[in-house]
This record gives sequence, structure tokens and C-alpha cells, in this order.
Amino acid sequence: EPRVFSGIQPSGNLHLGNYLGAITKFVDLQESYNCVFCVVDMHAITVWQDPAGLEQRTREVTAGFLAAGIDPTKHIVFNQSQVPVHAELGWIFNCVARMGWLNRMTQFKDKAGKNRENVSTGLFVYPNLMSADILAYKATHVPVGEDQKQHLELARDTAQKFNIDFADRIADLGYGVDNLNRDATTDPEKVFFPQPEPLIGGPAPRVMSLRDGSKKMSSSDASDKARINLTDDAETIALKIRKAKTDAEALPSEVEGLEGRPEAANLVGIYAALSGKEKAQILGEFGGSEFSKFKPALVELSLDKLSPITDEMRRLMDDKSHIDKILCEGAEKASAIAEPVLDQVKDIVGFIRKA
Ligand code: TYM
Repeated sequence: EPRVFSGIQPSGNLHLGNYLGAITKFVDLQESYNCVFCVVDMHAITVWQDPAGLEQRTREVTAGFLAAGIDPTKHIVFNQSQVPVHAELGWIFNCVARMGWLNRMTQFKDKAGKNRENVSTGLFVYPNLMSADILAYKATHVPVGEDQKQHLELARDTAQKFNIDFADRIADLGYGVDNLNRDATTDPEKVFFPQPEPLIGGPAPRVMSLRDGSKKMSSSDASDKARINLTDDAETIALKIRKAKTDAEALPSEVEGLEGRPEAANLVGIYAALSGKEKAQILGEFGGSEFSKFKPALVELSLDKLSPITDEMRRLMDDKSHIDKILCEGAEKASAIAEPVLDQVKDIVGFIRKA
């Protein structure tokens, strides 16, 4: 049975990258899949989080989901720490995934930098918790931005290693499902975990910083001017776009003309994603224009699309107990799916549990 899972960390401001790279895709996928959307607070504490700030941002991400159009009555919205299955399965995957795999994770290398001796051990095994998030629901489709691609590959490798390591036991217990598209020389006939498929496409899989077209837009960027936050007011959004770094040339009239112009490509990409049009169409309209003409149009479009979301987020944030109730109900629905999966995993691994 196909199922979508994805998560967002409550570790900073929700920004335009999260919105275009992930949330808009979530909203579309609701039409055709059963979806589980998680505010991953346990992932967030891999780096220091002020406790009151973590509560606030967990509610803010939830409000962002709802304001963008995710329906918590038809799908599942919850915060990770309310479903202990994630932590338990995460531990088991700490014992499945290999050091070498995690050593290759570029996000860990970027986040740890030269400070390797002093980052939390959680930051290193972070991708294993992410594998647990996905596989606890036997999710088949995972919508994410480009930056999560490597973590998704690790989740696939972890699912495969678990399936192979325990193939005999899975067969003995009758817990296997048909392994479609298997490689007959290496893959078992029956598997426990399906391979999760990343969904990375979409109009803006990688939104870049407004200050530097070679860096992704990120909540951890020291400069707030580098990103558009979903909580920014209209004036702030306008100012950030007006001040966004560009080159001195007019916009090209063909998409090829954006090559080697990362800042221009990013702004045109944002315009295209927000308007739901192709880049070629945007350049058909703005080719030959200076940024002094294009930027005001982008400001107008951004405010048009983002203000209703921002306003709704503010409104929702006024009623914390309503948000907390949605998270709590979501956690119950999530547990109902994930607990039976974990029970079977425990049987497979050889953990005795109450019958
Ligand atoms: P996080 O919280 O950094 O980002 C949430 C989602 O937003 C996407 N994203 C972007 N997309 C385009 N351009 C950008 N500049 C940009 N910045 C962020 C991310 O790709 C992501 O889809 N490890 C994950 C959270 C996670 C998760 C999971 C995701 C935990 N468990 C299970 C999927 C499945 C993360 O840190 O995303």
C-alpha cells in the first residue's frame, strides 16, 4: 500500500526553501496518497535548542503545514517525540547502518565542520533516526528537497541490509511481502521493508540563499537576509527581495542564458515556482528586463502567495491548545500504524515482548 512520509525540523524559521521544496509538494500529494507529516523535534535537538524556543517552533511548523493546506483530519500531522517507535527503531538502525555509510554523509561534514570532537553524537547518527521515521510507516514515497537525497539513499541501504540480514527470520515468521523489482542474485524474494522512493522533482528542489547563489537557503544561515521566512511581514519580504544579490546584466530571454548566473537563476526559479509557470515562460515575459523591473514583480507575487499563509499561521499560533490537540491526535494515529511494525521488527530481531 503506497504511503507518503516526510518531516521538517523545528530548528529555525520555516523558510521559502522548506515551502517550495517540501510543503507545497506535501499539499499536492494529499490528493492521491495517505500521508504522514512529522515535525521532527528529536532531529532538532541534535544541535542545541532553547527549550521554550523548541516548543514555539514545533507549533510554528505545525501551523505552517495547516496554513499551507494540509488537512489533519484526512492525513496525519504530529511531532516525532510523541511516538516512541521512532527512537526505538532508530536504535535498531544504529546497529544496522555502518560507520562508513554515515562517514560519507555530506550534511554531517557540513554541520560538524572543523568541530568534529565537540558535536553531539546524535548529529552523527541523525540519518538513522530519519530512516526509522520513514520505515516505521513502511513509507513508499518521501517528498524532500534536493539536500536530503543522500539521506534517502542511506534509508534505502538500511532497509535493504535489514531485509538481507534477517531474510531467513522474516521468512520463518511469515512477515515478508513480495520484493518487486528484485535483483535475483543478491536480493531475497520476500522483504520486510519496502524501498522508499524519494520524490525530489518539483519546481524548486533547491532554493538558494538570497545573499549567495552558491549556498542553499537555510534556517541556519547567520544572515536572516539570506532567506524569506514564512513568518516575515510584507515589508521585510519586500526589503529582502529588493536587497537580494544579483549580477548587473538584464535577464536573458532563454533559460540557457541563466547558466553561470546563479543569483538570477534562483530568483527566476522562485518566481516560476510561486507562479506555477515554467522558467521559459517567465523569461518570455521578463527577458531583457533589468532587475529593477523584475524584483518589484517578484515582491508582488511573493506577497500575493505568502501573505495568506503568514496571516493564517499567525491566527493559528494564537490558539496553542488547538495546535497541541492536533499534534496529540496525530501522534495517536501515527502510533496505530507504527507500533505493529515495530512489534514485528522486535520479533524479527529476537527481542522478547509481551504476547
Ligand atoms: P529540513 O528540516 O532541513 O528541511 C525540511 C524540508 O525542506 C527541504 N528544504 C529545501 N528545499 C529546497 N530548497 C531549500 N533551500 C531547502 N531547504 C530545506 C528539505 O529538503 C526537506 O525536505 N532531515 C530532514 C527532516 C527529516 C525527514 C525525515 C525528511 C527527518 N526525518 C524523514 C523526510 C523523511 C531535514 O533536516 O529537513
